[in-house]
Amino acid sequence: MNREYYFDHSATSNPKPKQVIDSVVEALTNFNGNPSRSSCRKSIEIERRIFGIREKIANFFNIKNPLQIAFTKNSTESLNFAIKGSNLENCNIITSVIEHNSVLRPLNSLRDNKNVSLSYIHPHKETSEVIKEILSLITPNTKAIVLNHISNVTGYIFDIEAIGEICKKYNLLFIVDSSQSAGFLPIDVEKSNIDILCFTGHKSLMGIQGIGGIFVREGVELSPVLEGGTGSFSKFERQPLKMPELLEAGTNNIPGIFSLGAGIDYIKEIGLDKIRDHEYKLTKFFIDEISKIPEITIYDNFNIFRGPVVAINIKNISSSELSDILSEEFNIYTRSGFHCAPLVHKYLGTYESGCVRFSFGYSNTMEEVLYCINALKEIISFFNN
Ligand SMILES: Cc1ncc(COP(=O)(O)O)c(C=O)c1O
Repeated sequence: MNREYYFDHSATSNPKPKQVIDSVVEALTNFNGNPSRSSCRKSIEIERRIFGIREKIANFFNIKNPLQIAFTKNSTESLNFAIKGSNLENCNIITSVIEHNSVLRPLNSLRDNKNVSLSYIHPHKETSEVIKEILSLITPNTKAIVLNHISNVTGYIFDIEAIGEICKKYNLLFIVDSSQSAGFLPIDVEKSNIDILCFTGHKSLMGIQGIGGIFVREGVELSPVLEGGTGSFSKFERQPLKMPELLEAGTNNIPGIFSLGAGIDYIKEIGLDKIRDHEYKLTKFFIDEISKIPEITIYDNFNIFRGPVVAINIKNISSSELSDILSEEFNIYTRSGFHCAPLVHKYLGTYESGCVRFSFGYSNTMEEVLYCINALKEIISFFNN
């Protein structure tokens, strides 16, 4: 097979580390019981392993009590549990224009059904400007801030520590979507005063698709969006309100949980700093080089530290055509279109055209990025002639 150049890590990380694949095989080979559903030894062994993985996740995000973490399908499910379960009604919520639809759609559902008004902040080069904008939007009716940590289109990073301070001061519920940041930036739920952290397992946390999670701070009241079996409290007529059962209705994805644990081990072995430095180095090199090409527009390039994501367009080539050419002629895999984030495209002025997103991962090399830059130059030269 021809060599492939995978620059779509924001969609899902690829390849998965060997130890992640091995952990799934181990789960399917040796751990095919149902944890918490019976008291047989196998079931208890699995429950122990899963608790160990909750502890690893707790340690990774500085969560004090691992039982405040529930496993979900992905961050979409976590965000629905957080946004729809937080009993937010007849109030105002502040969010941003860089949100993914997994934040926007549940928020719009509250707007349509629960008399919630939504206010939007924008990316700014300086965090002080972001804070100024938030302060200008807070009203006595504001109850929560729901925010994407890193944009999946522009790589813009909101300073969640500074915003968490504001949430603490004004007693606002702080819900963070860490889909693009967990596994790239350190996240400390205590330092950033996060009430609910939503994460997905299959992106930079290196697990497989179908696993994610949610941390809910003790004392934050959530209503369950899903109800069903938990293997405990079986005589309760309704879902138990205790974490993690509150948000874990039905049989958990054991192979997925194992993969998430192995993904975190992999990150710890390499070191989060090393991963971030490598991915940022590739991102910066890519931006620096393509900035010299007049036909290329880079979106929202504030020239500040960002996530490993770069969105571009090339003059006179549609985003879908560019992505197709990169794929078919150069084996370079990117993502074109709107990236499930319609408001960011309005903000960038690409609501009609979309753009092409390049997202880098730890497995990418400088040589691959150089190959990609040369491919873009070749495509431009072809269209110019
Ligand atoms: C910022 C952001 N939020 C949420 C999601 C949803 O993630 P998942 O599909 O794993 O639920 C994504 C996925 O691309 C994302 O980039």
